[in-house]
Amino acid sequence: MDATVAPAITGGNMLAEDVVLRTTGLTKRYGKRLAVNGLNLDVRRGDVFGLLGPNGSGKSTTLRMVLGLVWPTAGSLSLFGGDHGESDQRRAALRRVGAVVEQPAFYPYLSGRQNLRGVAIFAGLDSSSETHKRVDEALGYVGLSDRADDAYRKYSLGMKQRLGIAAALLTQPELVVLDEPTNGLDPAGMVEVRALIKQLAQRGITVLLASHLLHEVQQVCTRVAIMKEGNLLAQGEVSDLLAAQIGLQLGFDDPAKLQQALAALQSAAGSTPWLRGASLTAPEPGAWIPPGGQLLFVDAPLDQAAGVNALLADAGLYAAELRRREGSLEQYFLALTGDGASASPPPPTSVPSPSTPQQGGAA
Ligand SMILES: Nc1ncnc2c1ncn2[C@@H]1O[C@H](COP(=O)(O)OP(=O)(O)O)[C@@H](O)[C@H]1O
Ligand SMILES: [Mg+2]
Repeated sequence: MDATVAPAITGGNMLAEDVVLRTTGLTKRYGKRLAVNGLNLDVRRGDVFGLLGPNGSGKSTTLRMVLGLVWPTAGSLSLFGGDHGESDQRRAALRRVGAVVEQPAFYPYLSGRQNLRGVAIFAGLDSSSETHKRVDEALGYVGLSDRADDAYRKYSLGMKQRLGIAAALLTQPELVVLDEPTNGLDPAGMVEVRALIKQLAQRGITVLLASHLLHEVQQVCTRVAIMKEGNLLAQGEVSDLLAAQIGLQLGFDDPAKLQQALAALQSAAGSTPWLRGASLTAPEPGAWIPPGGQLLFVDAPLDQAAGVNALLADAGLYAAELRRREGSLEQYFLALTGDGASASPPPPTSVPSPSTPQQGGAA
């Protein structure tokens, strides 16, 4: 699919200084493999921007191009208004960025505070009391002040990831880039890290994260770009994408009845003010799958369930199931791709860690 025809739900009137990151036709090939295909992204100041897509869709490659760790094959990238192709501008822009794109490597027997002091030196800060203060601030920021003197190896997985984020914050970045920030964490660790991401946003830090977890992006992100196989499928405000998904969903015991119901509601839409339309949709994974495998989605206010039933009854049709659909990115993803299963793998504990090529950390 051509990225330029992706449904754009982005609002207009964006001031140049509000755009933290803009990619134009950003493309990366690895040999014959097109990892990222003509990506046009706009990340604005204050966004918690989620790159969402199944494994292999090009999210990490995109983040690495943003961080100057991987070189684009084509297209351009502008970070804080600077041209990434110009090394001086790229370096200046990247000084305003903190990132956790790898499992951060900390010394297990050193404390969180000692580790961060080491990272600070590595990041070019001196070992002054000013730096120590900044380390302590970063520890406070991620909620680790109380545990700052404990050895890293005693930290829970969530605490380890939060320390990684603290390391990324030492240079006081305006943009924080996180690749699969909750990968490998237990549910409690995921909750901690998601809460921290929201706090970063509240403190005015723009966040760009990659995740294959639909519900995670729905929970923490304000904007989303949905990727699949290197292509951008959609980009927009999470709330707008969700609003488009709200409606009523009906299942029928007989696929023929489903088609009749679709036709009946589509023809009624012209003369029924509250009925905006009807279409076929796939059931979400785990839900009841009717014979024929499809459901009827009715674009109508949720309080019109009785109205929908009445229209169908007029045509002698009765649904086996009628439900409200509150809207989820999962449904949106299903509607875009026709398969959601690959984007929402089993619970996080069984998700394998991504195989990431060896490269330096960007914290
Ligand atoms: N260093 C690399 N060399 C060759 N192929 C790569 C490399 N990195 C990623 N790829 C390929 O590019 C595609 C996108 O990968 P990636 O950006 O890691 O996706 P995601 O982060 O969405 O899982 C995949 O097909 C992957 O196998
Ligand atoms: Mg990845």
